[in-house]
Amino acid sequence: MHAIAWWQHAIIYEVYPRSFQDSDGDGIGDLNGILQRLDYLVKLGVDALWITPFYPSPMADFGYDVADYCGVDPLFGTMRDFDRLLQEIHSRGLKLILDLVPNHTSDQHPWFLESRSSRDNPKRDWYLWRDEPNNWQSNFGGSGWEWDEISGQYYYHSFLKQQPDLNWRNPMVRTAIFEAMRFWLERGVDGFRVDVMWLMIKDDQFRDNPPNPSYCAGQPSSHRFLPVFNSDRPQVHEVVSEMRAVTDDYRDRVLIGEIYLPIPQLMTYYGKNLGGTQLPFNFQLLQASWTAEALAAAISEYTNALPAEAWPNWVLGNHDSARIATRVGTHRARLAAMLLLSLPGTITLYYGDEIGMTNVSIPPEMVQDPAEKNEPGIGVGRDPERTPMPWDGSPLAGFTNGRPWLSLGPDHGALNVVNLEQDPESILHLYRSLIALRKSHPVLVTGELQSIDAANNALSYERHGCGERLRVILNFGDAPLAISSESGEILAATHPHARSGQASKLMQLGAAEGIIVRLRN
Ligand code: GLC
Repeated sequence: MHAIAWWQHAIIYEVYPRSFQDSDGDGIGDLNGILQRLDYLVKLGVDALWITPFYPSPMADFGYDVADYCGVDPLFGTMRDFDRLLQEIHSRGLKLILDLVPNHTSDQHPWFLESRSSRDNPKRDWYLWRDEPNNWQSNFGGSGWEWDEISGQYYYHSFLKQQPDLNWRNPMVRTAIFEAMRFWLERGVDGFRVDVMWLMIKDDQFRDNPPNPSYCAGQPSSHRFLPVFNSDRPQVHEVVSEMRAVTDDYRDRVLIGEIYLPIPQLMTYYGKNLGGTQLPFNFQLLQASWTAEALAAAISEYTNALPAEAWPNWVLGNHDSARIATRVGTHRARLAAMLLLSLPGTITLYYGDEIGMTNVSIPPEMVQDPAEKNEPGIGVGRDPERTPMPWDGSPLAGFTNGRPWLSLGPDHGALNVVNLEQDPESILHLYRSLIALRKSHPVLVTGELQSIDAANNALSYERHGCGERLRVILNFGDAPLAISSESGEILAATHPHARSGQASKLMQLGAAEGIIVRLRN
């Protein structure tokens, strides 16, 4: 593929390091474990790894509470392990994206220890301190303000009280985080996924948020108010463009933003003259209901809203959302794979989705996730989608020799990489072949997306470019469907019987089946 950057044609694979591969028997995955599995990722065909935080941390939010931005937590290994991993990643032609968590630190970070030590400490203003709380809520339940006995004020935390928010209006905070970015960029990392980018700056007058008229009892407490004054503030774009300037000082790096906002606001994060984040994560496929009509609408809305020259991207799963096979049903996981891998731009895959992992239910006494512990039983827990990767059919699935930190799925005896590897019709092989197809048909990455249509619960669209015309037809219905298509060659099918034939004017697609057809030009 020519003239586009690596991250534009990349398939990014998200690794949640605690659950990918344990190499030292403590039941928790680590950097050396990831190293052992790099060849699996090469064979899968992905281009880049995004590894969620492995920095020194008390692990109150499993690493999203960073106590040192420039280190490796001993649980995950050492800086030497990191350097070796990076080198091995690069030697295989892969890229590495780190998770940057700039909105908040751990309450054990030396900056916060200093900041809370007294009101006149030079780092006092690095965090958000007030005499009185306002009504801003924590995203993990309850007020976002915590009383600090030591210095007699409240501090704000968008998440756990162990995760105080940094004050991004303070230029020294900016410099400190930008230095941390440079530390990793100098070591050779290829970019960052920036945690909760849209939350980074809050109203400087600390105005109360308005009540949310559609709040219902049983929803997370953070939904009680509309997050007008503590999220998506105009000044955030200045910060994002400064971050971008940092990564732009190095060749070929990418800045990705985690942003949960409606499409029009999301698009603003590309920045003026595209000087913001290159890829504001597009969570449309996480949020749309799984009908042909809803997906067609979501895909069209996103595509039509893209600013000129802005590069699209699609995410099917992550460590904060129910697994795709659980959201759409195991029988439709193949269809989801075909949808994802036939859309334009950059693709992000969540570890284990390529083998059809489902959510694993975790009994209340085994819950690890602080979000679930704070607001139990209302469906906010994220343990179910973070369970260990089942590599083989042995009792501990080849993940660890110790006690896994979260239980393996009950189906891991059958659903594991070794087993699926041996079955040429498995979802793993489907993922590999769709990824290979994307590589051999660049129209799938760069081509125009046209003729998006939903009828009888079948979603269809065309991809035009690079001298080809492909038509994707996905039957989201529970019944077989007669479709009429222009004739052409079937390049891929979710199910074996339709594979490698000719598409004819009238053909049948089974329930939850999809095909990609190369139309005659
Ligand atoms: C992001 C992360 C999530 C974490 C939160 C707080 O949303 O993806 O896992 O809990 O930020 O850092």
